[in-house]
Amino acid sequence: MRAYLSRRYVISASHRLYSKDYSEEKNRAVYGKCSNPHGHGHNYVIEVTVGGQVDPVTGMVCNLADLDSCVQRTVIDRFDHTNLNFDERFTHEVPTTENLCIAIHNLLAEHFVHADLERVRVEETRNNFFEYAGKGKHGALNNR
Ligand code: NI
Repeated sequence: MRAYLSRRYVISASHRLYSKDYSEEKNRAVYGKCSNPHGHGHNYVIEVTVGGQVDPVTGMVCNLADLDSCVQRTVIDRFDHTNLNFDERFTHEVPTTENLCIAIHNLLAEHFVHADLERVRVEETRNNFFEYAGKGKHGALNNR
């Protein structure tokens, strides 16, 4: 009996959208005010979905405390109240929310062992959100 658990977390972080491959003018044309030199902040809402068999003894897919502590250690401690541009992950990558979503997915895929990581969704604003389900898992939630 496979089931899914989703949990939300919030981090605050700043970023500046700026590609080293572009001139100042081109950056402004591509990213608009998101490329302002001093950056800007977001309250990112991170939704993590994990899946697995429901344990017949505990009745759970996984223990929320295990998920919370992994997300805390690998994601929140690293990114909360930081400037994403200074994170080593974004030394050569633009810290768009697409790339942040993939970075969070990859960190959790590497460190969370208590259930299968199904999907990470990151809300940048109320109207913008991004999802990543890992390599070759596009649409994984619908295919099971
Ligand atoms: Ni932004």
